[in-house]
Amino acid sequence: MNEPVPVTWMENRRARNLEAQEVVKDLLPPGIARLARSFHRQIPGYNMSPLKGMPRLSAMLGVGGIWIKDESARLSLNSFKVLGGSFAIYQVIKDKLGIRDRELPFAELTSPGVKERLGRLVFAAATDGNHGRGVAWAATNLGFESVIYVHKHTSQPRIKSIEKNGGRVVVVDGTYDDAVRQASVDAEMNGWQVISDTSWEGYSDIPKWVMQGYASLFSEAQEQLSAQGLAKPTHVFVQAGVGALAAATIGFYYQLFGAERPRTVVVEPSKAACLYESALRGDGQPHHFDGELNTIMAGLACGDPSPLAWKLLWDCADFFAVCPDYVAAKGMRVYAVPLAGDPFIVSGESGAVTLGALLFTMQSEEGSALRERLQLGPDSQILLINTEGNTDPDDFRRVVWEGGDPVPAEFRTYKDPES
Ligand SMILES: Cc1ncc(COP(=O)(O)O)c(C=O)c1O
Repeated sequence: MNEPVPVTWMENRRARNLEAQEVVKDLLPPGIARLARSFHRQIPGYNMSPLKGMPRLSAMLGVGGIWIKDESARLSLNSFKVLGGSFAIYQVIKDKLGIRDRELPFAELTSPGVKERLGRLVFAAATDGNHGRGVAWAATNLGFESVIYVHKHTSQPRIKSIEKNGGRVVVVDGTYDDAVRQASVDAEMNGWQVISDTSWEGYSDIPKWVMQGYASLFSEAQEQLSAQGLAKPTHVFVQAGVGALAAATIGFYYQLFGAERPRTVVVEPSKAACLYESALRGDGQPHHFDGELNTIMAGLACGDPSPLAWKLLWDCADFFAVCPDYVAAKGMRVYAVPLAGDPFIVSGESGAVTLGALLFTMQSEEGSALRERLQLGPDSQILLINTEGNTDPDDFRRVVWEGGDPVPAEFRTYKDPES
């Protein structure tokens, strides 16, 4: 008993009572989603990631549709993150070349002439694994170097995969937030260019470009939903670390639909709940989350919100929620063993938490209040993003094969007859 409940949440009522057009426009100026998409489309190997419907699970949960934007194979990198890092590098290079009024075609970007003008460029990034792998991949593919900072708990497979993509890895004795600081100090000393997904005082252009890069994911999803006869999702559950993805998601839908945008739920691990904590404090400021950040959701293990992302989330996110690790673990297993007729999806810890949160919201007694506030029911078309595939094979097997992080008895759908 006394296990943490599956979903703890708060409603951000101010989001529906505010005119946030200016904040949104600052992050996602008109035309930027098209520019990001146009850049990504030219990357060799680019394909839209699939949007997968789960009709059987939707019927079981009593909702109209569940749509999974499956980023597990994005550019063969296992995660959506490369969309942000690559677009930020593209924008940095455009800036260095003084190109402001036109696109830079991929062929020109990778041409020897441009390379010569730019000289040696080194990109640095701090990461839990996914962002750094994306930055390393993009730098390598454009012919540049990268140095990627990870924290001491980063698993070996994650480190190896960054190295495989051409990044030099530096392990920092601390948390993700310490890695962010160290990357910035070393870059300053060595004249490297930091590509960070989180912002800080005096450093916001690049994190903005990272977020803008994520918009490609949603412009694809909108085309794919419209091919299914749907104008938009009614709800989006989006997972958050520093909040950049969540801000891009909500900003994108705000730009398209204004007050008619989908209802949004920002989901974090209970052990790394910096956005939820900031929302609870209610003073409009981003706050540090004190804790060891020792969640299995490695991609979401952040103690400090990105101030840039926070600004938009505070004005526009409808709900903030936190979930214990067992919620993500259940999401991974349901993705891996779907109902007959639904697609099989490989989803890692950070990718699966939103499905876990939706399952508990729809199926548990504790979920009833959130269910009602969200008005989830037969007319709901819910968008989830599987933000990563199997990025940590050892932990994936621990959870999916060996039942690691089981659902506590009191929150199981199927009760043990003995209990
Ligand atoms: C797999 C995965 N999902 C979601 C996120 C959250 O993104 P953000 O830090 O922008 O909130 C991350 C961040 O690294 C991630 O790796």
